[in-house]
Amino acid sequence: MSRFYVIGHPITHSLSPRIHRAFARQMGIDMTYDTYDITPGRFVEGLSELMREAQPRGANVTVPFKLDAAQYCASNMTERAKEARAVNTLIFEDETVYGDNTDGIGFVRDVEMRYGFPIKGSRVLLLGAGGAARGVLSALRHCACASICVANRTPAKAQALALDFGVRSVLYSDTAQGGYDLIVNCTSSSLNNMAPPVPMQAFAQAQLCYDLFYAPTETPFMRLARESGCARVQDGLGMLVEQAAESFFCWHGVRVETEAVFQELRNA
Ligand code: ATR
Repeated sequence: MSRFYVIGHPITHSLSPRIHRAFARQMGIDMTYDTYDITPGRFVEGLSELMREAQPRGANVTVPFKLDAAQYCASNMTERAKEARAVNTLIFEDETVYGDNTDGIGFVRDVEMRYGFPIKGSRVLLLGAGGAARGVLSALRHCACASICVANRTPAKAQALALDFGVRSVLYSDTAQGGYDLIVNCTSSSLNNMAPPVPMQAFAQAQLCYDLFYAPTETPFMRLARESGCARVQDGLGMLVEQAAESFFCWHGVRVETEAVFQELRNA
């Protein structure tokens, strides 16, 4: 039976096993999918142990190892993983480990297909300039947006990211001028129960505000967006399910139906 894992730290609360087991049941694929904890700073050793002991067919990689995984697969990465400089999907074939990144496409599918928001032609404001922002930008840049602006607490990082992707960087204070259709929170501020410092006026024309973070209750960014008048505010649960579906496709070559799994998690 083929074995799959999600690698991270901490990892016990990951929803990925639940999602992938549901996909496997739907497709009638006989496989296992479990969590695998690696101590930070020991990614290469931990992965080698897993490969030796379990001979996995594939693995997802999550916080804090996406960059380590990209370094590990440096010469065997897909274009989208290279652009994101982060790997969330590993494919083990013979002696080679291939790296892919399905986060960006997961975001785009969730926004366009689940929420029916047309990204093409839209004016996008992206908050944050870390790995998550990079993953989203690597997909957004192929979506023919009317414009993409990046704002970050440390402006130099937004400038560097904007230069890398050929988009514009702005200061948080500048975003008060508004004119954004889609605002995406790619910062990790929710981990500290904070919202990024976006002025309320930035939301004036926003049709969709999206937080990559997901939680059983509204995140601080979602609250800020709603209180600033944005009618449509979503968390990142759908993106999690869609990136998993794309990883599943990388491993098994089949497209799963994601809506039932999404609804099950939402109602849990
Ligand atoms: P990830 O892989 O989740 O993107 P990261 O690479 O550590 O994690 O990046 C975290 C991002 O969240 C950064 O853009 C960070 O801003 P700085 O570059 O200024 O550190 C942003 N961030 C974290 N906490 C924040 C907060 N409270 N307000 C605004 N931005 C925050």
